[in-house]
Amino acid sequence: MFQSWTIEGIDRLGLGLSRCRNGHSIVDEQSERQIRQLRVRTVAVTSEGRAGTPSRRTVLAGTALAAFSGSEPGSALAPEGLHEAARSKGLTYGSAVNITPLRRDPAYGRAIGRECGLVVPENEMKMIYAWPEPGRQAFAGGDETLAFAKANGQRLRGTTLVWHNALPDWAKARIERREAEALMRRWIGLIAGRYRGRIESWDVVNEIIRPEDGRGDGLRRTPWLDAIGPGYVDLAFAILRETDPRAAGLWNEDDLEMSAGWVDARRTAVLEKLARLKARNVPIRRFGLQGHLNSTIPFDPEALRRFLGEVASMGYAIEITEFDVDDRAFPADVALRDAKVADLARRFLDVVLDEPAVLNVTTWDITNANSWLNTSPQRRRPDGLPQRALPLDEAYRRTPLWLAMRRAFTDAPDHRTARARLRLG
Ligand code: XIL
Repeated sequence: MFQSWTIEGIDRLGLGLSRCRNGHSIVDEQSERQIRQLRVRTVAVTSEGRAGTPSRRTVLAGTALAAFSGSEPGSALAPEGLHEAARSKGLTYGSAVNITPLRRDPAYGRAIGRECGLVVPENEMKMIYAWPEPGRQAFAGGDETLAFAKANGQRLRGTTLVWHNALPDWAKARIERREAEALMRRWIGLIAGRYRGRIESWDVVNEIIRPEDGRGDGLRRTPWLDAIGPGYVDLAFAILRETDPRAAGLWNEDDLEMSAGWVDARRTAVLEKLARLKARNVPIRRFGLQGHLNSTIPFDPEALRRFLGEVASMGYAIEITEFDVDDRAFPADVALRDAKVADLARRFLDVVLDEPAVLNVTTWDITNANSWLNTSPQRRRPDGLPQRALPLDEAYRRTPLWLAMRRAFTDAPDHRTARARLRLG
């Protein structure tokens, strides 16, 4: 038997609803079973066809569902994309763009054009791609991404200036020969200079914290650190400021979202480092959490809330720069898995979007077919099934994660005042 439910209980999970009638949202038996199995609190149950005016929230839910089911390519419903929902709250939704499908598959570009207000090249502005040999620079991928963003009225992020990965061997050798500072100046001057005035925020340093490396300051041991010392971070931000003063310098960091002792140590090291950078007036304007959620580690919303609040209290704006969900510990069954992915994403986004300092949420690609979790062998699920990490499936259909994200944006507090303040300076 069908039963109709108010949306709160169902929508937390982003489960598919099969139809809407008289303003009520109807769940089918399969979704209902999932809700029961997952012991979701449903706020109220009404009988199908009950007379009376549906609540505003139920009507909104019905609209969201129409958008969800009408999402296939060519759908006459042409529902608004995630960015539209984010924008109504002064937020931005964006995605990483992979140059290979962008060149090969027009549907990929159309999906990103439809859903996103911002893009970031997944790889093309990293040193190993843009400067693969001392005498050869390769900007075609970055230039194409910029042209794509312009054609779609989207803003552009840049990643990444100083990182221990994506360093070509020739650059490592120069850093080890104590030519690190000259190389850093040349490289940032080159790439940030080429895109000067076009980049909203640059990932200036990436993944610089690793308490396990045993340093008192928690910094990761990298070729840059070994050659220049901890001041390499200050230097990188200063060079960007000289090269492109309009681009916000952002420190991007991984593994800060979930809840474990080692994550606590990372959060502490980040906060201490941010405080020291601020005391020295280093021109860092934003802090980025990559947002790679992981089903194998628990999530503690209050610990994340406190961390975000502390970053914001130092005056930094915040971005979620590489959001996705590694679903390897979730069940193989697609409907159940999608429900769990959507639920974890929603719990994370509810905390994130409650923080006024958050400006943008960017997913790490937009379709499961291109997720790095599926393309890199060591990140695949042990059962070999493709991960369902992103808001669109391999046919560019919207997934329950898309719906959860959209509802998180729609229900978020208004960020417009904070955005106007944090985007200055
Ligand atoms: C990844 C890309 O997605 C892959 O295509 C590439 O082979 C390796 O880099 N954190 C980051 C991103 O900061 O730049 C990484 O991107 C994923 C992890």
